[in-house]
Amino acid sequence: MGKKTKIGLIGCGRAGMIHARDMMYSVQDAQMVCVSDVNEENARKAAEELGCEYCTDYLDVLKREDIDAVIIAVPTKFHRDIAVEAAAYKKHIFCEKPMAMNVPECGDMIAAAQENGVILQIGFMRRFDTSFQRAKEIVESGKIGEVVMVKSLTHGPSTPHEWMYDIAKSNGPLAEVNSHDIDTVRWLTGAEVKSVYAIAGNYRCSQAREKYPDFYDSVLMSVRMDNGMMGCIDGAQGVEYGYDARVDIVGTKGLVTIGDLKDKTTVTYTKDGGMTGDVVRTWMNLFTDAYIAEDRSFVECVRENREPLVSGWDGMMAVAVVRAGNESIRTGQVVTLQADR
Ligand SMILES: NC(=O)c1ccc[n+]([C@@H]2O[C@H](COP(=O)([O-])OP(=O)(O)OC[C@H]3O[C@@H](n4cnc5c(N)ncnc54)[C@H](O)[C@@H]3O)[C@@H](O)[C@H]2O)c1
Repeated sequence: MGKKTKIGLIGCGRAGMIHARDMMYSVQDAQMVCVSDVNEENARKAAEELGCEYCTDYLDVLKREDIDAVIIAVPTKFHRDIAVEAAAYKKHIFCEKPMAMNVPECGDMIAAAQENGVILQIGFMRRFDTSFQRAKEIVESGKIGEVVMVKSLTHGPSTPHEWMYDIAKSNGPLAEVNSHDIDTVRWLTGAEVKSVYAIAGNYRCSQAREKYPDFYDSVLMSVRMDNGMMGCIDGAQGVEYGYDARVDIVGTKGLVTIGDLKDKTTVTYTKDGGMTGDVVRTWMNLFTDAYIAEDRSFVECVRENREPLVSGWDGMMAVAVVRAGNESIRTGQVVTLQADR
């Protein structure tokens, strides 16, 4: 494939624009052709910045014969329908996480991609982060013996948008934030989740307490994998202190840790202030290179007709675990994974 891979973006928000800028400036074999957003202002601004065309109806992106692949970065509840239509128009698909709202929706997306012979990659970019990749290599080398437990933590500084407060409609923080941790546990144990037990509470978002009593801003989920290994997921929203993503991989003969809340290496020491340094404030900075590597890898898969590193199956399994976790929070019971959640 000599010519550049032509990309359309659906959803010009935070995640969408990261991918669009990567495709434009950091992925040599890609070219942004058209962006789409229901909010015309967002679409127009994005097109102006990227120097490409725009529209407000994503079907106008899908109908274009000069587009090879689309990035779907709209709110999660729209992922299924847009992905199924994109596949019908023979567009390769990069879809942001969470893949969809439930397992049957994910199944529809996987089936549509298979039937139409298009690639479907899901946005778990941590797998493309060099620290995560190094940890995976160390685990596979046997240096820390057998993996016993993977503990993955994501704390975000801000409180969620109101649409996330309704867990029944949004699947909540376990989906929107901690699906990254779920994928990390699956990836680093090399196993599927067998059962989960989760507890949660709302400690910081007092404005949501009355109208959304089920909303949680903090969650702890214990996970049993089907090969006997254990996982532990620690999620928190509105922590204010920074964006915190860390992993401990505990083995029979050692420990691997990933991540640091400390940004950069500059530390100031004073007689009255002790030690001060910069804190990581946002996921956008923490994973800049991982998003670029993820976008490059997607374009390579399209050009070489290869299976993506993060498949529809990976997206679907994470959604199954999210649904089981929310059920465990609701019922107070251990929940065994079933395929139809
Ligand atoms: N991989 C990551 O780390 C990561 C980070 C942030 C968000 N995300 C995911 O990306 C998706 C988008 O999140 P975001 O934070 O960018 O949201 P956002 O609100 O910043 O942007 C969403 C955009 O989609 C537009 N939109 C809504 N419905 C549309 C439709 N039907 N057609 C076209 N455009 C539509 C909105 O107008 C908005 O501009 C979510 O699924 C989210 O979970 C992933």
